[in-house]
Amino acid sequence: MFGQTCSYIRENIWVGRQKALEITETARLCSAHLPVETASRNVGIKSYMFIQISLLLSLTDVLLHAFTALPLPFSGRDTSPVPIRTILCVGARGYVNVIAHHDLSCPDTQEPEITPMSHRPTYHVNPLTNGPWQRAATFAGLRGADGRLSPTIFAEMTALANKLGAINLGQGFPDEDGPQEVLEAAKAAIDRGVNQYSPGRGEPDLLRAISEHQQRFYNFAADPGSEIIVTAGATEAIAATILAFTQPGEEVITFEPFYDAYAAVIGLAGAEHVKVGLRPPTFQPDLTELERAFTDRTRIILVNNPNNPTGAVFARETLQRIVDLATRHNTLIVTDEVYEHLIFDGAQHTPIATLPGAKERTITISSAGKTFSTTGWKIGWAIAPPDLITAILTVKQYLTFVNGAPFQPAIATGLRLPDGFYRGISSTLQRKRDILIDGLTRAGLEVFTPGGTYFVLADTSPLGYEDATQLSRDLGEKVGVVGVPVTAFVSSEHVPDYRSLLRFAFCKRDDVLTEAASRLSRL
Ligand SMILES: Cc1ncc(COP(=O)(O)O)c(C=O)c1O
Repeated sequence: MFGQTCSYIRENIWVGRQKALEITETARLCSAHLPVETASRNVGIKSYMFIQISLLLSLTDVLLHAFTALPLPFSGRDTSPVPIRTILCVGARGYVNVIAHHDLSCPDTQEPEITPMSHRPTYHVNPLTNGPWQRAATFAGLRGADGRLSPTIFAEMTALANKLGAINLGQGFPDEDGPQEVLEAAKAAIDRGVNQYSPGRGEPDLLRAISEHQQRFYNFAADPGSEIIVTAGATEAIAATILAFTQPGEEVITFEPFYDAYAAVIGLAGAEHVKVGLRPPTFQPDLTELERAFTDRTRIILVNNPNNPTGAVFARETLQRIVDLATRHNTLIVTDEVYEHLIFDGAQHTPIATLPGAKERTITISSAGKTFSTTGWKIGWAIAPPDLITAILTVKQYLTFVNGAPFQPAIATGLRLPDGFYRGISSTLQRKRDILIDGLTRAGLEVFTPGGTYFVLADTSPLGYEDATQLSRDLGEKVGVVGVPVTAFVSSEHVPDYRSLLRFAFCKRDDVLTEAASRLSRL
């Protein structure tokens, strides 16, 4: 029981100063068997806290006074060490009431931020369901204030689009097939029997093709034998990397809004998610804010460039500043470049790893899904110095081991397509972008022209909507077009900053976009 109780503490007892004071007051006024429960998140407590635990068995009224000092894996922005005393009352009916007591001798400066996770008077705990997944769900915004799980906004909007027969510009996948050569190569691979496990690092010919691709487009040398691995999409590469290198108490910086998988995996790793805001109209980060985000606990800065959902392509100066800060704080740089070829207006993509001083600490992640319109194949890769790749591979081999054997040679074919193909995908997508921007502008929305990706953001406030979630529901009903609110990509504390923004995907057929644009202009 004690083990279970401890795991419950690790999941739930993150007590902010204010909350702790309130509970202390309640505890003073009530008996030991208080039906009081709290679970709040304190991002202000330093890495090592000590808790004193008293277990009270209400059934027998026997007091097991287990006095222990546990170094807990908490971390945060605050520097004041905050001792916490915790009393656990294990109720006869199987629920756990938790009362936390804050050490009042703590200095009152640096009030930590408090994010309540639950205010229910009792919390019926099934210890079997407790686990790191709860942090993943909470960090990704899928767990409400009452601890319940909600579906993603993508699922809600897709269901709405299906119900209404509306055009779904909410989800970012193309509705047209990619290059015929690539599709044929996958079929041929199946026919010649490439249907069993591929080698752990990936099909050697694909590893060579990735290496050639980096050389051709970026003049960047990566050894196919030791510096590249193939993964189950960029998603697995990101997950394996974060799980390989971060531990509780460490911090991962991302820009915000962020791709939701980042927050989920950071939560799974038990690390702290530190965000640097990207704001309209340019969505370029403020470099002073970026600098302030780095601490001696920063383990990784995770950069997505070109950026989903903002469509921003970061300035070279920003990328170089990231490298300089990462070097100063001895931090890893993880860069998600899945939209590397979907970049517009003649701009060139710059992989961070190619900047001076970056290579030794950078893990470059990309995938074939966006470039070749094969999002369902889930062929991705990570490129990094050999010792970093070995660490990532060690985790990756126990997640999926390998995937997509016949698709791997097909993606090798794609990566070797001539330059004209790559110019073509970017100019085609730019044309699609412009069709949609035209419709959104005519609808009266303020549109932020993206420099890359599949997505465009629009501000709904010129139409009198302060809440884009409401507008996206209304849009489906009124004109038959569905987008997603940008709040789906931000943490709960920053929702107000992005409340009026909607994201639309333009990776759709021209006729679908033209129809969407014409419907929007009737708004
Ligand atoms: C920024 C970003 N990273 C990663 C992914 C996932 O890539 P993959 O499908 O290769 O796992 C996506 C997909 O939407 C994305 O937008």
